[in-house]
Amino acid sequence: MKVLILGATGLLGKPLMREWSGDEVVGLGSRDVDIRDEARVLEVIEGSRADWTVLASAYTDVDGCESHPDLAFAVNRDGALNVARGAQQVGSKLLFIGSDYVFDGRKTAPYDIGDQRNPQSVYGRTKADAELGLLHTLPGCCIVRTSWLFGVGGNCFPDTILKLAASRPSLDVVNDQRGCPTYTVDLARAIIELCRKDASGIVHATNSGDCTWFEFAREIVKDAGLPTEVRPVSSQQMARPAPRPAYSVLSATSLRQYGIEMPGWQNALGRYLQERKSAT
Ligand SMILES: NC(=O)c1ccc[n+]([C@@H]2O[C@H](COP(=O)([O-])OP(=O)(O)OC[C@H]3O[C@@H](n4cnc5c(N)ncnc54)[C@H](OP(=O)(O)O)[C@@H]3O)[C@@H](O)[C@H]2O)c1
Repeated sequence: MKVLILGATGLLGKPLMREWSGDEVVGLGSRDVDIRDEARVLEVIEGSRADWTVLASAYTDVDGCESHPDLAFAVNRDGALNVARGAQQVGSKLLFIGSDYVFDGRKTAPYDIGDQRNPQSVYGRTKADAELGLLHTLPGCCIVRTSWLFGVGGNCFPDTILKLAASRPSLDVVNDQRGCPTYTVDLARAIIELCRKDASGIVHATNSGDCTWFEFAREIVKDAGLPTEVRPVSSQQMARPAPRPAYSVLSATSLRQYGIEMPGWQNALGRYLQERKSAT
């Protein structure tokens, strides 16, 4: 199988490149192809002769999207559609990485794949619009929604917490947003399996279990053996430019239908901390 990974230089792209063995894989970052450039996108997908194109490229700064909506829509919606049209023209299957932020967070039970999109932020709107455009252009595509990514090789929540905890006696962390932390290595493995199983439609893929950012931070500090006190605060106390869903837990039912189970987030965090230690 020939595979083209767009966004190969990102937090998820790096483990995707590392974990994918046994197939012919080419990975590209924004320097190789800007997905806003439709002609270049087509050229790259045509040249790759890929059976699968995995689209992990995005403008992922959720707060930055609020102040740069034109850029956010150009990359996340229009860029994704360029890739879908390219894939459609050359007959490549497409797997797109979606986000839990397409939901408004008003549910209190895990979101199913058919639940209504109602994004609250610019970033969420760009990802929701991309999904709709992709399903229209390439109805057989696979949309893998995930959430709260962490991994070695880029900015992520556990890395920020560990850096702050090293120099502060206490940290205030929001306790009114609940979701599923997801280790990029586990997500990469699930994505590879989904491609091998010819997946299509919407699939939710996160580590299992859920927590608030406060609970996540408390576990990070405890696992790392740091004495830092972690204190719960409300989102109102820590106002950010982009609103976040209060609840964005994604149901694992769609992933189970492919026979895939992802480990619990605490287990994943332990492996991340090991990997981070050996990387430094
Ligand atoms: N991070 C999360 O918590 C999270 C949660 C849910 C869903 N997701 C989704 O998961 C996917 C991967 O996220 P990530 O955290 O790995 O992102 P990331 O670390 O920010 O990496 C983004 C990737 O996109 C590339 N890129 C950015 N602008 C581009 C452009 N105009 N043209 C081509 N490539 C461009 C970057 O290339 P360069 O580095 O070469 O510039 C990089 O490879 C994204 O679709 C994101 O929306 C992420």
